[in-house]
Amino acid sequence: MTISHLGKYWLIVLIACLFMTLFISYEAHKFAGSNMSELPDNPLYRNSETPVNQRVADLMSYMTLEEKIGQMALVEKNSLKEVGDIQTYGLGGALSGFGGRPDDNTPSGWKQMVETFVLESRSSRLGIPILYGVDAIHGHSNVPGSTIFPHFIGLGASGDATLVKKVAQATGDELLATGVRWSYSPTYDMPEDIRWGRVYETFSDDPQLVSSLGSAYIRGLQENQTKSSTTISVLATPKHYIGVGGMLWNSSSNENFRIDQGSTPVDEKKLREHYLPPFQKAVEVGAASVMVGLNSWGDTKIASSTYLVQTVLKEELGFKGFVVSDWYGVYEIPGDNYTAAITAINAGVDMVMLPFEYKEFVRDIKQAVSKGDISEARIDDAVQRILTAKFQLGLFETSITPDISEVGSSAHRVLARDAVAKSLVLLKNNNGLLPIKEDVRTIQVAGSAADNIGRQAGAWTVEWQGIDGNWLPGATSILAGIRESAGEGSVIQFDADANFSLGSPKADLGIAVVGESPYAEGLGDNPNPFLSEEDIVVINRLKETSLKVVVVLVTGRPLIITDDIKNWDAAVVAWLPGSEGAGVADVLFGKKPFTGKLPLPWPSTLRQLPIVGGITNDRSAPLFPRYFGLQY
Ligand code: GLC
Repeated sequence: MTISHLGKYWLIVLIACLFMTLFISYEAHKFAGSNMSELPDNPLYRNSETPVNQRVADLMSYMTLEEKIGQMALVEKNSLKEVGDIQTYGLGGALSGFGGRPDDNTPSGWKQMVETFVLESRSSRLGIPILYGVDAIHGHSNVPGSTIFPHFIGLGASGDATLVKKVAQATGDELLATGVRWSYSPTYDMPEDIRWGRVYETFSDDPQLVSSLGSAYIRGLQENQTKSSTTISVLATPKHYIGVGGMLWNSSSNENFRIDQGSTPVDEKKLREHYLPPFQKAVEVGAASVMVGLNSWGDTKIASSTYLVQTVLKEELGFKGFVVSDWYGVYEIPGDNYTAAITAINAGVDMVMLPFEYKEFVRDIKQAVSKGDISEARIDDAVQRILTAKFQLGLFETSITPDISEVGSSAHRVLARDAVAKSLVLLKNNNGLLPIKEDVRTIQVAGSAADNIGRQAGAWTVEWQGIDGNWLPGATSILAGIRESAGEGSVIQFDADANFSLGSPKADLGIAVVGESPYAEGLGDNPNPFLSEEDIVVINRLKETSLKVVVVLVTGRPLIITDDIKNWDAAVVAWLPGSEGAGVADVLFGKKPFTGKLPLPWPSTLRQLPIVGGITNDRSAPLFPRYFGLQY
């Protein structure tokens, strides 16, 4: 070997050593959270003219493993331990657990709070904006003064997809006005048992109606009205994938609940025929995220099911958005927290609604990747899906300039009042008592929900479990609506307990507005879905002091009224109408027609539960079938 050969040999060896050194230090830096490839001044991903997929690829090429894992964490805002943690951990999402509000609980206070989180995230090394989410399931109802639309069961009774899209658009405008770009809605759950505490959050137990109204809602939220380059205005999240509503009574995994978070016992045929089609439609209309439920399919927690999440949702349905888990649901998967988290992520969950311990999460997932318990490819798939949604929302560009006056605007309240009118269902109308005639001059109004805006709004209103009483800025009670609609010269008396004088003559008409006090989720699981004794007493008292009685039910679910309704001259279901209670009177007094129809069967006895796809178990007919509704 000559000198020149020897020199070439050592040169090659030197280059190889240099390369190995570089590669090893790159790997080390990658785990250590630093990044070998320095960020240029104007990286491609910051150019809004670049196609989204290229922006995502470019951004990910700069991301360390730690920064990627941070994007998969969804943290409840009150769980942020130190100022700066959003930036330090590169957190991908934050949310208001319902009632998680700013100190200044006004629309401007919300705008300020969300902007603060977004600004902090933009100051991270790569400037990836955080995505802030809320449960806007009947308007931006965390915020006092917002328009509170009817809960979905009422929109289901309207059956009106055009209306539902408008409601979603108005809700989106109020969210944008406070800087919020993500809502955990619409609900795709389908109730089989009226004892469940979330019946009112659903449109129906009919997959076709759920598909139609759910798609309209997704379009209403996501379609961008501002015609800017942003393709998604507010991110919709059809939930809860899959089979929620079909759980069996007494199957809850939560010791405080009876059916919520329970087990859905259906076979795969029923799952595919009944529960999957609405989600398939949601994917087709472009839902950019889907939330998995807290229920189980048999004994398998949905969030742990690779078959349901990765295989069926992502591969079979072709879902390209990101899958987000539900509140703490990942850690309810059997095993310690480390095992539960890797199980969920390997099953296809992309963003984990922790919602508390983000430091533990980042540490665990980093360890899982280094140990090979989670592949880097799975992390990259999850982050690619999350970042795609963020670029589609235009989060990296200046956000859509929100108009704070949208919150609770008169136009939205007019829309909500119309939605209330379209949600009402007429169950009984002896001798054409309704609409209330001109010659009805004396009216007595009674009942626990007549002058109680908290009851007519239901839960998920400012507080998770709702509020009781008349405190809601800008709202109108059902009683106020009756007073407004009654003709000139009418005499309207009100007493919640129906303590009216027994002297003659009797009033021409008594209106009893009764029903449920607010509840949310499993706290609303009720073994006895009947009218309360107090409400029955009030109705019977009213019968003593008025010639005819109309009962208006303010309820989140069908109630067992089989024996009671026999004593009523007319019966109307108003569901949970929200802030615009005057919409009820619009129909009672004939300004608008009854058009609503029951979105699910109304059982006559508890023996008929669960309602299996509209056919009761005991095969006797329900009191009223699905889609029943009298008109005049
Ligand atoms: C709740 C609900 C879910 C909601 C989430 C965030 O537990 O199951 O519907 O979106 O937590 O509030």
